[in-house]
Amino acid sequence: MPNIVVVGTQWGDEGKGKVVDVITPHVDVVVRYQGGNNAGHTVVVGREKYVLQSIPSGILHRRRCVVGCGVVVNPGALIEEMEALVRRGVVLDGNLFISKNAHLIMPYHPALDRASEAKLGSRRIGTTGRGVGPAYVDKAARVGIRVGDLLNERLFREKLEMNVAQKNRLLREIYDAPTFSVAEILDQYLRYAGWLAPYVTDTGLLLTRWIESGFSVLFEGAQGTMLDIDHGTYPFITSSSTTAGGAATGTGVPPTRIHGVLGVAKAYTTRVGGGPFPAEMSGKIAEHVQARGNEYGSVTGRPRRCGWFDAMVLRYAVRINGLDTVALTKLDVLDQCAAIKICTAYRYQGGILTDFPEDETVVAEAEPVYEEIEGWLATTSGAKNEVDLPAKARRYVERLEELIGVPFCLISTGAQRDETILCETSPLLRWFPSVRSSVL
Ligand code: GDP
Ligand code: IMO
Ligand code: MG
Repeated sequence: MPNIVVVGTQWGDEGKGKVVDVITPHVDVVVRYQGGNNAGHTVVVGREKYVLQSIPSGILHRRRCVVGCGVVVNPGALIEEMEALVRRGVVLDGNLFISKNAHLIMPYHPALDRASEAKLGSRRIGTTGRGVGPAYVDKAARVGIRVGDLLNERLFREKLEMNVAQKNRLLREIYDAPTFSVAEILDQYLRYAGWLAPYVTDTGLLLTRWIESGFSVLFEGAQGTMLDIDHGTYPFITSSSTTAGGAATGTGVPPTRIHGVLGVAKAYTTRVGGGPFPAEMSGKIAEHVQARGNEYGSVTGRPRRCGWFDAMVLRYAVRINGLDTVALTKLDVLDQCAAIKICTAYRYQGGILTDFPEDETVVAEAEPVYEEIEGWLATTSGAKNEVDLPAKARRYVERLEELIGVPFCLISTGAQRDETILCETSPLLRWFPSVRSSVL
């Protein structure tokens, strides 16, 4: 059975939650492999809206869901998310598994995140303030505290004392910010430990056994390619490996057991937070797309910056992730645009770039080269097949496909599950033949 990675191709919020939700009925396990509660993956089921942050979106289909070792876990936020799901009738027991090796977000991490942002001034990243960056700093510095440590009070206390002493000095002397008490954190986190213990396990071993027994695993990426710590628009990125390679290291499933990669791309582009954004829109069109696409962060509520579809970014995402196919989302948001631009290349210092430049200053100074097409000025929502789309919308989709060189598998025209077109030659059919019956 195929094991497939679903990855964001832009700067996050591409609609990964919706795409994962559409595919989940055809797999046995869904696993998150990086990021933390900086993610907000929205799934809309009828009138119900769910925003998943640390738990895989597959949980709504009662699939086995794994929080892998590459994720950073805020236990208080995770418990709140679990309780909210249980209140809405979602069954977690027997379906949720949390890696022992996932690192914990501790109370001093959001404090350090905010303090560091405040110090950066105009160079600030615009983080979600969830402490994700500082938690990965501790992981890389080998002073992090892992979920499994919660189950060993003596070890947890020892690591906590060392960390609080170090972080308090940093907060007091560098950032002039309030400090933390070991006793308070210990008390709070030992309560969390009691809550989470039944779900904590060696998830790498479990996943390997499940795969050996013929289960199919979906890896649910968070954030997007351009926010990847190595391949994104550094330093305006998140602190994890958001790209497909992260699926192996962030779960313990070897790369040889991963069979394909599906990218999710919006029919335009958005970005929350700071950093370069060559195809950014401005003026009335930016306001229109932001309003029609409801482009406000699912986690922080911040307005998302909007831009045109950037084929440079997509071609880069194809290369870095080895994308087999792309799910195109939010096509309906462009329904009322009289003219639509596509960024095909960048102009830089008199020359033309056709490959995404991995240089901060070049991206910041690059000018987009646009191709403009006529809008279709008709509704796309409700189309069941590509042929049902307005002719000009079909041409837009075909042109995007041509520019990125990878076939689309799904076209999403609304937040609901059934507002999804399965493309005729969708590679998804090769992986999951039963998709035809559920999407159409
Ligand atoms: P994620 O982080 O990649 O899962 O994306 P988010 O959930 O943060 O943001 C995507 C938003 O667009 C959510 O509010 C979805 O419900 C919504 N959405 C997803 N697909 C479509 C679509 O095709 N059309 C419209 N109009 N909304 C969509
Ligand atoms: P999903 O999974 C969009 C952005 C933040 C900021 C940068 C670093 O819903 O697509 P961080 O808190 O991670 O240190 O912030 O990354 N960011 C996201 N943008 N969608 C997300 O997640 C994001 N998670 C982080 O806005 O620019
Ligand atoms: Mg999101």
